[in-house]
Order: sequence, then structure tokens, then C-alpha cells
Amino acid sequence: MRYWKVFKNIFVMGFIVSVMWLMFSWSSMEFIRYASMDPRSIPITVKNKLCHVNNIDERVFVNNSSDLKMIYYVTPTYPRPEQVPELTRLAHTLMHVPKIHWIVADDQSLCSKDVADILRRTGLPYTHISSPKPYIYKGTNFPRGVANRRAALSWLQENADDGVLYFGDDDNTIDLQLFGEIRLTKKVSMFPVGLIGDYGVSSPVVKDGKVVGFFDSWPGSRMFAVDMAGFAVNIEFLKPSANMPYIAGHEEDRFLVSLGLKLEDIEPLAANCSKVLVWHTKTVKYKKPTLRVDIKKLEDVTAYKYFVNLLKETSRLGMASISNINGTKPYITRNRKSYETVADLH
Ligand SMILES: *[C@@H]1O[C@H](CO)[C@@H](O)[C@H](O)[C@H]1NC(C)=O
Ligand SMILES: *[C@@H]1O[C@H](CO)[C@@H](O)[C@H](O)[C@H]1NC(C)=O
Ligand SMILES: *[C@@H]1O[C@H](CO)[C@@H](O)[C@H](O)[C@H]1NC(C)=O
Ligand SMILES: *[C@@H]1O[C@H](CO)[C@@H](O)[C@H](O)[C@H]1NC(C)=O
Repeated sequence: MRYWKVFKNIFVMGFIVSVMWLMFSWSSMEFIRYASMDPRSIPITVKNKLCHVNNIDERVFVNNSSDLKMIYYVTPTYPRPEQVPELTRLAHTLMHVPKIHWIVADDQSLCSKDVADILRRTGLPYTHISSPKPYIYKGTNFPRGVANRRAALSWLQENADDGVLYFGDDDNTIDLQLFGEIRLTKKVSMFPVGLIGDYGVSSPVVKDGKVVGFFDSWPGSRMFAVDMAGFAVNIEFLKPSANMPYIAGHEEDRFLVSLGLKLEDIEPLAANCSKVLVWHTKTVKYKKPTLRVDIKKLEDVTAYKYFVNLLKETSRLGMASISNINGTKPYITRNRKSYETVADLH
């Protein structure tokens, strides 16, 4: 009898394991089928969500003249500890620019409250889109930002008849003078971008007022060897065929080719491409520290509730991890030398 019971148990276990294995391999078959294809040919369905649109310019301190063309400033972004500070810095530049509509397309499947708060507080007209990278591209080296720029482009094609489009990442630094120049773009304007590649700069080369070539450390057999932040497009020149592929390094070129752009159409800005008015200024990747704090215990110390809230905010924004087991013991200093551990607060 005992042997029979053991045998039965082994049989049942084996059956369960086989069913689980079958379910697992079935679900991964879809993945394998895709993995064996050229990923660029995979049809993609992206679930974009329009989080919020504000068309009212609430700023009272800028020239609101209707004679000015609208600049549509498209910013792809993605969640990381640097996201909020980068967007905050960019917001404070854009707030000085008259007649501008900020399109922020975020690579996450929800409408981030942090991003929404930054946008709302600018007083700018804006569009907030949730445009996650297609699932199939997770973990591959497919270029960041394409899903976001595509989402912004389709919003523009449905909602804007005229104005000027500019792709500015959340880590670019822009001289206010550039806005005045790109606003006059008739077809496509171009200008140098600083702190990029192995030449320190990427720029069109201008001769007798015309663009005759490109100075960029990665030619990549591109017709238009420019950076995403190095050109602006008049919306009227944005044909329905406008497209941006998921091919790292070729997004700019393929996009400009899809507009039917010719070399002689290009309008050089920034004093015939002799000045730098926009830069790549990546924030150095921050190594997230872990703080050893028993936050649950600290919550009972009501006298320090604001400090406890700061610790929670620091953890929520991903600037530090808080653990009650691991990490460095943080101290608080008082009177220059005497100090106590955060855990000893009372
Ligand atoms: C700016 O102009 C728009 C339309 O031209 C108007 O709706 C808006 O109220 C104006 N904003 C300010 C602060 O005057
Ligand atoms: C606002 O911009 C318009 C159009 O460029 C210009 O004519 C006007 O002088 C500007 N107003 C101010 C106060 O700068
Ligand atoms: C650009 O170059 C052309 C041709 O040499 C010249 O006429 C024009 O004044 C230059 N523009 C600027 C802003 O320097
Ligand atoms: C502490 O660190 C260990 C090893 O790195 C990790 O496995 C564990 O999850 C950490 N515990 C907490 C509460 O963070």
C-alpha cells in the first residue's frame, strides 16, 4: 500500500511538471518565432496613450503674438533617476520661449504623475503621451526614442497644420537664440550640435551659403549625416510618408530621406553653421547607493516626519535604495562634530 501511494505521488508530480513544461514552451514558441526573423520586419503594434493635451499658453511673461509660428518641441524620455531633473532643466529653458508646444512622449506604459506635474507647472501648451517601446524590442539594442518620436509624429500629423518641428532630447542644452532661428524654417534647417562623437561636434559643412556636406565622426553611409538635435522641419514639409525606422544610428537619415529632402533644400542656421547653439549634455550615470534605514521604525518618530518623507521621496525617485538590512549607515551631523545615525533619531 505504501509503495502504491509513493508511486501515485511521483506520477502526479511528473504529470504536473510535464503540463507546466508544455505551457512554458508553448508561450515561448511565439518568442522564438520572432527571434528567428529579422527584427526590423516584425509588424509592430504599439499601445500609445494620450495622457493629456493643453492648448492654452498660461504664461504672461512671453510674447504671445499670433504672428509667430508655433514650434513643436518633441522630447522622447524614459523613466530613470535622472528623468525628473533633466525634464525640469529643459522645462525651465522652454518656459522662456514664445509660441512653443512641448510634446513629451514617455517610454512607459502609464501616464507618469511626475512627468505630468512638470508639464502642468510650466504653463506651456503641451501634449503628454505614454508611448512604451514595443515589447518585442525589450532587451535588444534597438534605438531608444523611436516609438516616442513616432507617437509624437502621428499626433502632429493629426493635430497641426503649420509650425516647426524640432526633436530635442531631455538631455540637450539649447541656447535660446536657436528657437528664434528655427522658427523661420521653410523646409528643413540644419545647424551644429556640440559634445558628440569623436569630432566633438556634428555639423553640416556650408560653402557659399549652401550645405555641401557633413562633418560627423560616424558617416555610416548616410545621405544626411546629422544628429537628431541638428535639424528642424516645417510641418508643411512633413509628408504623410514621413517615417522613422527602428535602426540604431539611421533614424535621422531615414527620416529626412522619407521627407524627400534634397541637399539644396537645406537652410543652414547658426551663422552658416559656424556657431554651436545646442549640445548633448548627458548627466553622468549615478551609482545608486543603498541606505541602511529601518523606515517603518522611523515612521513612528513623528517629530521627524518631514525628514522621513524626504527619505521616501528619495527612494521613490530612484536616487537611493532604502533597506533595513543592507547598505551604508547614514549619519546626521550637528554642531560640526557630534553626529548620530539616522536610526538613532527619536
Ligand atoms: C495667448 O494667445 C492665445 C491665442 O492667441 C490666447 O488663447 C491666450 O489666452 C493668450 N495667453 C495670454 C497669457 O495672453
Ligand atoms: C512679438 O512678436 C511679434 C512677431 O514677431 C513682433 O512683431 C512684436 O514686436 C513682438 N512684441 C514684443 C513686445 O516683443
Ligand atoms: C552666410 O553665407 C552667405 C554666403 O557667403 C552670406 O551671404 C551670408 O551673409 C552668411 N550668413 C551669415 C549669417 O553669416
Ligand atoms: C540585501 O542584499 C542581498 C545581497 O545583495 C540581497 O539578496 C537582499 O535582497 C538584500 N536585502 C534587502 C532587504 O534589500
